[in-house]
Amino acid sequence: MKLPSHVKLVDVGPRDGLQNEKAPVPAAIKIELVQRLQAAGLREIEVTSYVSPKWVPQMADNAEVMAGIQRQPGVRYSVLTPNMQGLEAALAAPKHLWPDEIVVFAAASEAFSQRNINCSIAESMTRFAPVVAAARAAGIHVRGAMSCTVGCPYEGEIAPERVAYLAGLMKDMGVQHVGVADTIGVGTPRKIQRAIEATLQHYDIADVSGHFHDTYGQALANTLAALELGVWQFDTSVAGLGGCPYAKGATGNVATEDVVYMLHGMGIDTGVDLDKLVDAGKFISDFLGRPPSSRAATAILNKRVN
Ligand code: HMG
Ligand code: MG
Repeated sequence: MKLPSHVKLVDVGPRDGLQNEKAPVPAAIKIELVQRLQAAGLREIEVTSYVSPKWVPQMADNAEVMAGIQRQPGVRYSVLTPNMQGLEAALAAPKHLWPDEIVVFAAASEAFSQRNINCSIAESMTRFAPVVAAARAAGIHVRGAMSCTVGCPYEGEIAPERVAYLAGLMKDMGVQHVGVADTIGVGTPRKIQRAIEATLQHYDIADVSGHFHDTYGQALANTLAALELGVWQFDTSVAGLGGCPYAKGATGNVATEDVVYMLHGMGIDTGVDLDKLVDAGKFISDFLGRPPSSRAATAILNKRVN
């Protein structure tokens, strides 16, 4: 199959990346990170989540961060909302501070659903239904994240049929786009393709993205495998930040820098300026006091020094 000529990257670093940091990251740093990502050419940024601060304390400053970013035309700002309380909090702000997109998140595995959002898959659908309806009525785009589509930290391997089942539930509920997530980064290329094919039973290719954590170092290969099926949208995390608090040992998403380097090297356009992106990654890594978890960023930074 002919590979896509353009890829859209959603940088989830400010949310998926920082949600797992133990030490508080001030809102001003998160805001600066978002500014730098948009200056580097990212056209969608997952900014924060409206979840329980008891569950994820790092995202408790959601309203402050959303109010602090200077929006750039053409950039979509998304937030996670697991229930009506989350959506209402996101929409409590004046309209110009609303997210352009909300994300509801469910799992292909029952055990992960319980650990992550404290309810079964079926219950999560009951919770999401009014969220999806209210967001769409307000003109807000709705994306769904499907966790553990190849493997679960509690249940092990996940069959593609369960991904198809979840994608069908998402579609019936009015979720406009779904992300196929390898939450714990255990997937390998053919397994990822099976999960995507299962999703394509219910969604068009233009409404499917890949969300690959890099725990086992497979995420770039998995990205290429997804591209081979025609997928052209991916969630990535600047400096490879992150991990999920309810998936022990799982590391961050594939680094945006690594994906941009690979795609540009293949002649695929992303609209991202790799040098500015590396600067954004260095900014947040310096704050966190560790080097970026990106091979491409490390190579570029080393070259700058020498
Ligand atoms: P619950 O305890 O079942 O909810 O949690 P509840 O409705 O019974 O409420 C309990 C308390 O939480 C109450 O407070 C509520 O007010 C509060 P209390 O009376 O005890 O003081 N609460 C909220 N506060 C703020 N915002 C809200 C909210 N909802 C309830 N929206 C709940 C259910 C979903 C809230 C909880 O389980 C939760 O917050 N989970 C968040 C988990 C999370 O954020 N995980 C990480 C993101 S998902 C991810 O990383 C995966 C992804 O990247 C894809 C992939 O890689 O797989 C997307
Ligand atoms: Mg994730």
